[in-house]
Amino acid sequence: MADYLKHEIRSKDIILDLGTGCGIQAITATTLKDDVRVIATDINPIAVKNAVKNAKLNNVNERIEFIHGDLFQPFLKKEYFNLIIFNPPYLPLPLPDQKKQDWISLAWAQGIGSDIIQRFLLESNSYLKENGRILLIISTLSNIDFKRWEGTYSFERLSERAFFFEKLILLKITKVR
Ligand SMILES: C[S@@+](CC[C@H](N)C(=O)[O-])C[C@H]1O[C@@H](n2cnc3c(N)ncnc32)[C@H](O)[C@@H]1O
Repeated sequence: MADYLKHEIRSKDIILDLGTGCGIQAITATTLKDDVRVIATDINPIAVKNAVKNAKLNNVNERIEFIHGDLFQPFLKKEYFNLIIFNPPYLPLPLPDQKKQDWISLAWAQGIGSDIIQRFLLESNSYLKENGRILLIISTLSNIDFKRWEGTYSFERLSERAFFFEKLILLKITKVR
């Protein structure tokens, strides 16, 4: 993902790094263009604290706004982002009960029906500006019905990498309507 960011970031972009984890994508984004605005979120409050520390260590903490929250729940303003980066939990395993605060499981379980990715695709459209782009990683183990999104987004496969029991695919998704 980080390798492809340099081709996708444009001057003055407002970028959302969703599920920032340790902050790697958000931190990388700040190093690629001086005039971009970067916002990074995660559902895991410990990940957000850790990402803030990593941004400080890399001297880019003043360039990233870190927010704790579930997908787009922290955002009121629609049609705001030019680019959304999401390296989601990628295994089709049941979602943990959020009340149990099982943060580690939330890092890899996306729900049996790829619930997180379906919700993400449903909600992200209204938070993207016209022709807004998404960089999304998916696993071949996910069950995503891409036909459902025809006419809403266009999909381009940027790269793929094989691991033991799956392939990870990096998609560029563009808002068309
Ligand atoms: C596979 S990790 C990716 C971390 C990092 N972005 C990277 O590229 O290394 C997925 C991240 O998504 C976060 N996450 C899971 N569900 C989320 C949700 N509903 N809203 C926001 N973040 C979520 C997890 O806590 C985890 O940090």
